[in-house]
Amino acid sequence: MNRSSAYANANIALIKYWGKSDQELNIPEAPSLSMTLELGTKVTIESISGPAHQAKVNEQDLARLSAYLELVRKHLPYQGFLSVRSESSVAMSAGLASSAAFFAALATALNEHFSWGLDQKNLSILARMGSASAARSIFGGFCALEGGVSHKEAFAYELDTLDVAMVIAIVSSDKKPISSRSAMNMTKATSPFYKCFIENQRSDFEKSKAAISNKDFKGLGELMEHSTLKMFATMWTAQPFINYWQPKSLELIQLVLDIRKNHGPIAYFTMDAGPNVKVLCPKEHHPLVFKLVNDSGLALNVKSSFLGQGSKVIQEHLHD
Ligand code: PMV
Repeated sequence: MNRSSAYANANIALIKYWGKSDQELNIPEAPSLSMTLELGTKVTIESISGPAHQAKVNEQDLARLSAYLELVRKHLPYQGFLSVRSESSVAMSAGLASSAAFFAALATALNEHFSWGLDQKNLSILARMGSASAARSIFGGFCALEGGVSHKEAFAYELDTLDVAMVIAIVSSDKKPISSRSAMNMTKATSPFYKCFIENQRSDFEKSKAAISNKDFKGLGELMEHSTLKMFATMWTAQPFINYWQPKSLELIQLVLDIRKNHGPIAYFTMDAGPNVKVLCPKEHHPLVFKLVNDSGLALNVKSSFLGQGSKVIQEHLHD
C-alpha cells in the first residue's frame, strides 16, 4: 500500500496574525511569532484512483481539504487523488490551533509521498497554503512567520528559545461559532481598528524577537497580552461584531492578573479564535501556575505543554 505519514505539533501565536494580504495563498498581512506545543496531529495519505480526494477524518472539512490539495497541485504537479486520514490530540475548531498541526503534518506527508525533497522553508510555504499558522508548525520551539510579503517570502523560521511552559485552560471544546478564516475576513473588511492593529504589528513583532533573545520573559509576556487584546479589539469592532470569549475566559484572565499580583511576573495570558485561555509561564514556575489554574475550578480541563518539536515523517500509518 502506497502510504505516507507525518506528525506535526500545534503552535500558539504570542504575537498574532489576523487577516490576510492574499486570500488564495493564505499570506498573512502582518508578521507573527509563536511557540510550538507538544500536542499534535498525525496524518496518513494514500494515493487512490479517484474521481476525487477523500477525507477519512471528520474534523477537517472535505471541501477545504480538496481545495488545498488542488492548490498544491497547481504549484507542485502530481498525478491522481489522495485519501487523507488524521488523528489528533488537539481539540478541533476550538481555538487550539488544530488546523495548524493538521496542515503542517499534511504538507510534510505530501513532501514524503511525492519525493519533492522540499527543505523546511519550502515545507513551511506549502503548509501555509492550507492554514497560515501551519507554516509555523513545521518548526519547533519559538518561531516567526513573515507577513505582508510575497508567496515565496511568506515562510516561518526558528528563533532563539526561552525555557517556558504553557498551561491551557479549556473552557469549552465546542466547535467555534465562526471559523477564524471567515472571522478575520469580516474583521478586515469592517473594523475601523483593523488598520491600527496591522500598523502596530511590526513593532510588537520586532520587540518580542528582542525579548526572546534577551531572555526577557516579562517583556515577552507583556507584548503577548498586548497583541492578544489588540486582535480581539478588532473583532469586537467588526460589523456585526465577533466574540469568542465566554464569562469563564474573563474569570481566567482575572486569575492570571491575581497570580501576578501575588507571585510576581510569572504568568501571562493569550487567547485565539475560541474561549480557551492559554497561560505562558517560565518552566520553573509551571508547577505553581498549573496548580493555581487547576485549583481555580474555572476550566473544564487543564492541559500543559512545554516546547514541542517541528513536524516529522513517521512510519506508523493510520488505518480505518
Ligand atoms: O491559521 P488560521 O488561519 O486558522 O488562523 C489563526 C489565527 C490565530 O490563531 C488567532 C492567530 C495566530 O497567529 O495563530
